[in-house]
Amino acid sequence: MKTVIVGISSSVAAFKSVQLVSDLLKEGLDVEVIETKNATEFVTPLQFSSLTKHKTYVNTFDRVENYDVEHISLAKKADVFIVAPATANVIAKLANGIAEDMLTTTFLACDCEKIIAPAMNTKMYENPITQENIEKLKKYGVKFVEPATGLLACGDEGKGKLASVDDLKEAVLSSLREKKLAGRKVLITAGPTMEAIDPVRFISNHSSGKQGYALAKAAKNLGAEVTLVSGPVSIKEPYGVNTIKVKSALEMFEEVKKHFDEVDYVVMSAAVADYRPKNVASQKLKKSDDDMSIELVRNPDILKYLGEHKTKQKICGFAMETENQLENATKKFFGKNCDLLVLNDLFEKGAGFKGDTNVVTLITKENNEKLEMMSKEELSYVILNKLMEV
Ligand code: C5P
Repeated sequence: MKTVIVGISSSVAAFKSVQLVSDLLKEGLDVEVIETKNATEFVTPLQFSSLTKHKTYVNTFDRVENYDVEHISLAKKADVFIVAPATANVIAKLANGIAEDMLTTTFLACDCEKIIAPAMNTKMYENPITQENIEKLKKYGVKFVEPATGLLACGDEGKGKLASVDDLKEAVLSSLREKKLAGRKVLITAGPTMEAIDPVRFISNHSSGKQGYALAKAAKNLGAEVTLVSGPVSIKEPYGVNTIKVKSALEMFEEVKKHFDEVDYVVMSAAVADYRPKNVASQKLKKSDDDMSIELVRNPDILKYLGEHKTKQKICGFAMETENQLENATKKFFGKNCDLLVLNDLFEKGAGFKGDTNVVTLITKENNEKLEMMSKEELSYVILNKLMEV
């Protein structure tokens, strides 16, 4: 079992670390918590211990009876150490090798991956002294989860809010994954496209973008440099991913072409509209008593274009068929020159657009493999591992 140390310093955001610890435990991780003395004013050690089933460490010498040098034994067993929230004070100490309590001592003694999530007033964050400390720690390989911008506890508005619990969790999970895609570039498309009819109406589809966003996160967690070209969806941009928002298929095509040459893998999970209105009215179309029709023209088939122009790239397409599923999907696999095709089973329970799970068949040159129902997150790793293999 992997061990994560969560270090907590005194910030009003310390309450978020309770959720972080709970989420990490749900991932099956062993979690140890170290608080600074002042942090215990915000959240008590007991609260963390009730979750972790371990003692919450505060002082370096508060349990000498087992003669174990705790900051060293903790440091040895840790796979990742995350300090969240990290105050300007703690960052300054860590950047200068000051080891004066359990948190700072253990941090210095750890040679595992280290992550710091700052939380402080904007002026303190932007102060060149803090920035220099951050740069110094980055130089030594410490990763940072950027603070968010918003209303701060002090009433100021600006950068300095502790990142979301989801982003903190992702940063930890990402550090724990085997970096099979390190040094690789991955391009992923996600969501629907939106084809304008007039300034207020459009043609689109039910794609939620969940599978594509899960793929982007998974590729990031495997160490890849990820570009996500996303149609309009209501999901938060994944942490650490270069997300480019587009609306129409033509815009998506342009962005994909811009990045295609430099990437090693492409996953086209977007539900690209096959047609768009031939003319986009500049004013809202007026209704009349007559029926009306909209003339549609073909959108470019982005995946087909990539299949025709690929050099080193491995390409994965998606397909959703309602009849002769396997036969049609296999035709698509060869017709679009894919290396892998993911056939979505629209009629299976637990599959499809909006849910958190999927049921798919993976089609390669060699064979077809129907997979069990699984979460879109889990499936993302299966797809990426397969794409690396073919
Ligand atoms: O032919 P069909 O639309 O079923 O193929 C689906 C696959 O092709 C998906 O990977 C989708 O992202 C891609 N596609 C595309 N451009 C289109 C239509 C689909 O890249 N215009």
